[in-house]
Amino acid sequence: MEYQMIAPEHSEQVLEHLRRNFFADEPLNKAAGLCQNGSSCPALEAHCAEAIQHRMSVMAVDAKEKGACKIVGVVLNGILKPGDTAKALSKLDCNDDADFRKIFDLLHRHNLKHNLFEHFDVDCMFDVRILSVDSCYRGQGIANELVKRSVAVARKNGFRLLKADATGIFSQKIFRSHGFEVFSEQPYSKYTDEDGKVILPVEAPHIKLQQLYKAICAGDQDEKKQSL
Ligand code: ACO
Repeated sequence: MEYQMIAPEHSEQVLEHLRRNFFADEPLNKAAGLCQNGSSCPALEAHCAEAIQHRMSVMAVDAKEKGACKIVGVVLNGILKPGDTAKALSKLDCNDDADFRKIFDLLHRHNLKHNLFEHFDVDCMFDVRILSVDSCYRGQGIANELVKRSVAVARKNGFRLLKADATGIFSQKIFRSHGFEVFSEQPYSKYTDEDGKVILPVEAPHIKLQQLYKAICAGDQDEKKQSL
């Protein structure tokens, strides 16, 4: 397995991987019925393509796959600034994909309510947005390696704070094993409409959204620079 930084020219291949492995499988997408495996979802694709432009994302490539390189895992990371989430939430009203709106309304409102910028007094964050591994390659430590490398990219670029919205118990376990801590949680059973109906009936064993963070202190940065 090889790990490489994702460049904008890899976008189409990365999106193809996500259509087959993330768009239908991720717990909230699955609960919303966002799309069938392999089909496109323009709203989610735009969200992913925007992250790739930040040039902080990493992919796992199987070079032995039938003589050609195959993307088997990706972590899409972006830079988040104060005001970005409020702007994304206000743009959501114009999005005509109701299932996408259900998911991102939950994520954006949760992040605005539990404001990491204010709590940590930072003016930007390294945002781990999408973690995805090919269903045929799961359970081999690829997601673990992608998160480990993301932390290294964040350190190298001088970020003081990383954040991730982990939607399922496995991704939550992975982030915590890399030193992320839980800042806030939202049980899916409490995300309801005005009639009390659960908006996203997420399947067990996934029961809640976790907003996780990892703070990198100045001492850690210096230590890392010396070892590079
Ligand atoms: N059952 C039990 N344990 C699991 C499972 C599973 N299905 N999947 C992962 N784990 C555990 C592993 O045992 C391992 O634990 P360990 O470190 O103690 O050995 C740990 O999680 C990491 O396992 P990896 O092999 O590194 O994870 P993998 O490469 O299989 O990828 C992922 C996990 C990314 C969750 C994959 O299943 C996937 O792509 N799922 C669909 C998309 C998704 O849900 N992504 C995360 C959403 S949150 C976000 O994107 C920020």
